[in-house]
Parts: sequence; C-alpha cells; structure tokens
Amino acid sequence: MDIQMQLAALRAEAETALDGVASAIELADLKAKYLGKKGPFAEFMTQMKVLPNEEKPRFGALVNESKNAVNALFEARREAIEAAEVAAKLAGEAVDVTLPGRTIRSGARHLLTRTVDEIEDLFIGMGYTVKEGPEIEQDLYNFEMLNLPKAHPARDMQDSFYISEELLLRTHTSPVQVRTLLEAGGNKPVKIICPGKVYRRDDDDMTHSHQFLQIEALVVDKDVTLADLKGTLLVLARKMFGEDRQIRLRPSFFPFTEPSVEVDVTCHKCNGKGCPMCKGTGWIEILGAGMVNNAVLEATGYDAKVYQGFALGMGVERIAILKHGIDDIRHFYTNDLRFNRQFR
Ligand code: PHE
Repeated sequence: MDIQMQLAALRAEAETALDGVASAIELADLKAKYLGKKGPFAEFMTQMKVLPNEEKPRFGALVNESKNAVNALFEARREAIEAAEVAAKLAGEAVDVTLPGRTIRSGARHLLTRTVDEIEDLFIGMGYTVKEGPEIEQDLYNFEMLNLPKAHPARDMQDSFYISEELLLRTHTSPVQVRTLLEAGGNKPVKIICPGKVYRRDDDDMTHSHQFLQIEALVVDKDVTLADLKGTLLVLARKMFGEDRQIRLRPSFFPFTEPSVEVDVTCHKCNGKGCPMCKGTGWIEILGAGMVNNAVLEATGYDAKVYQGFALGMGVERIAILKHGIDDIRHFYTNDLRFNRQFR
C-alpha cells in the first residue's frame, strides 16, 4: 500500500480510538500506543532506513507530517478532557447562593435570672451591695442567731432538710444577714441584698417547690426607721409592678423582726378593683419584712440602743409568677424551651 494511504488509515484509526477516551489516564495509554517508541510512527522510521536515499526525504516528511497531525489530535483531546474534569469539579462543589441560610438561635437569660438581675439593679442603684453565702448552712446562722432557738415553735414555719444536727440546707437567705452583721463587728452600717437558693421540705405542686430563690435586703444604721422600710417597699413594688402601685402593711410575725409586716401591693391586673388575679380583693401579698429584732442586733454585736435596721425578704419565683401571669412554679425548673422562649 502506498505510504500516504497507510498514514491516512493510521490517522483515522487513532481518531476513532480517541473518541472513546474519557480520562487523562486512558489518553496517556493511547498516546503511548500510537506515538511511543514502539508505536506505528516509530515503526515507519525504521522502514525508512531500507529505502533508497532519494526517497528518504519525501517519506520522512510524510511520516512526520502525519505524526504531528496525530499529536495535535491528542493535544486537543487532552485539553477537552481537562476542561471537562474542571467543569465536573466545579459543578460538584457548586454553592447555591439562593438557599435559605441556617438560623442561629441566640440564647437568652432565664426569666428567674432576669428577675434577680432586675431586683439587684434596683437595690444597687440605691447603694446596696450584693452578698452571698453558703447553701449548706449552720443551724446557728439559719435559726439560732435569728432569734429562733432550738425547739422554737416558729421553726415549723420553715420545714428543713437537715444534714446533721448542726448543718442544714438553708431555709432562707437570712443567715447571710447574720454573717454580714458578724463580719461588720457591731459598729459599722450595713446595707446589703442577699440573693440565692433556699430549700424547704415542701411537696412540690403548682405553688410550692422544695428549692426556690429568695432575695433579702438588710439595712442597719443609726437612724433607720419603719418609714425607711416603707419607702423602700414602695420603690420596689413600683419598679416590679408599675408606677401606679400602692402598698399596705399588715401586722405579721417573724422571730427576727419586730414589728413584722406582710406587704401587699395593689393588683397590677385590675389596678385594685378586684379580679381573679387578686382573688377579688384588689391586693396581692408580695413579701415579708420588718424592723430587725433587737435580739438579732445584740447577738451579732450591735448595740440596739444605737443601731436599728430593717429587713425584707421576697421569693423571686413568686414575684415573676405574679408579674408574668405564670400558672405553675414548676415551669421555672423543667427547662421546657417553649416556656423559656416566651421571656426573651
Ligand atoms: N426570711 C423570711 C422568710 O424566709 C423572710 C423575711 C426576711 C421576713 C426578712 C422578714 C424580714 O420567710
């Protein structure tokens, strides 16, 4: 066969073979087969050696021309395969910028924490410092020095979790008052609030919890009167329940205060007219308070003829329940996000 026809056939064959190539690896193999040292073009060159000298230039030129053409086919194919691979990679990694974003939910402080913070802020603004104390407390500080000696009937008001004869889970935050007064040494004014967890042996239900939060306030100084207490209570009631609120004090009893009062505030739902919230009375009881009992002042080293004081103590859950119309105290502790999210 004429060399030109042979070369044309070879080129056509390579072209067909190239059509079936899909990857760079297959392409390299095929290139070795046609253009490598043992390929057909190399073979033609060996044939050239035996040709008469005058035919060699034309033959060589034809083979080279054909070889270059086939080589160009391979190059074109290589570029096409590379482009296809890049395109496939890009398609695989494509980002759909029209997809909706992922919502990042932000957390929020728990309603109880917020209520504590709100009350703390109010008192800090009036010059109080925040004092904390241990939740495992000595009977001495929780009861005895608060004018509640062992076997005192008023201890029944606060059913307790005892750990030993002398240790218990504190039933109120009042022991922090005792500790602070002792620290002050009987001759310095004291103006503190004590927030914290307290524990009582109650059966948990809609309105009771064996663990809850209290905040107490204590002011001891040389000219402290019931009028100061009353003014403080009014500020507190208005801050928590609205500027239109009025308060009233009813006589009560706590061993550590004398006189003692229960504090009522006009109902924030009906403004004192009477509604289910205030059980028709127009008043809601919010906390207990009183003038620090002389026995407590004396026990902590203060001269009761020189120093007087007032104290008030409130349940944080009760305040939050009243303020936000919550129907069950247990909602605070069950961590149901549907409840928590209502108070962002
Ligand atoms: N400690 C009292 C209680 O838990 C509350 C209180 C505090 C009353 C301060 C009067 C003065 O019941």
